[in-house]
Amino acid sequence: MRTKVIAGNWKMNKTPQQAAELIGAIRPLVEGAGCRVLVGVPFVDLPAALDAVKGSAIGVAAQNCHWEKAGAFTGEVSAEMLCALGVGTVILGHSERRTYFGETDVTVAKRVRAALDAGLEVILCVGETLDQREQGITAEVVAMQVKVALGTVSGQEMARVIIAYEPVWAIGTGRTATAAQANEVCALIRRTLAGLYSPATADAAVIQYGGSMNAGNAAELLAQPDVDGGLIGGASLKPQDFAAIVAAARS
Ligand code: PGA
Repeated sequence: MRTKVIAGNWKMNKTPQQAAELIGAIRPLVEGAGCRVLVGVPFVDLPAALDAVKGSAIGVAAQNCHWEKAGAFTGEVSAEMLCALGVGTVILGHSERRTYFGETDVTVAKRVRAALDAGLEVILCVGETLDQREQGITAEVVAMQVKVALGTVSGQEMARVIIAYEPVWAIGTGRTATAAQANEVCALIRRTLAGLYSPATADAAVIQYGGSMNAGNAAELLAQPDVDGGLIGGASLKPQDFAAIVAAARS
């Protein structure tokens, strides 16, 4: 049995003080959750978030990291810097990073490598665009994203990799994949992992769905056999909604 993981992706929202307040509101609502709960916050909010989760089971994730340890990379943050703060997890390859900031499967792979080397857990995001889905190439696109990003990752290291299947057309659009569509691609990712590693590694891997998951649709999505949690954008900023998703993962 895989433990489900519900991770909030706050994107570019909340000041440090607002982050502390939001975590303060979420904390009592998700206490005793039967799943893992993470909040993915902007870099500048990390210290406040780490402080605000103290004494709870909520984990804190960053939303990106660079592949070099240090150097002339203006505006970037290294995996080592995240570890030094006490951050345990980093979201990598989110479609907004790919679309707006020019990230490719190759640069995502480099970031995955650096994050694992530094000791972080990774939430690796993959997913097809609407054009790709309509062309019928979802399986090829997603399998390639997974294979390139995990190119240097060993089977043992897969214990520290969560994969988030996020169809680009479902992110922030209110248009959710159906439970069957979500499960189909999560199962495809699992088969891809079985081919890259072993059936046991694939079976143990946590594969989330993300894209307009909310309090109303979470239960059906999370009941799918290959959907092991969610990466939640908009709804993660609303304590009651986020807590309802966590509760749906528990049952
Ligand atoms: P959404 O975002 O839940 O607002 O669609 C999901 C994500 O980008 O991870």
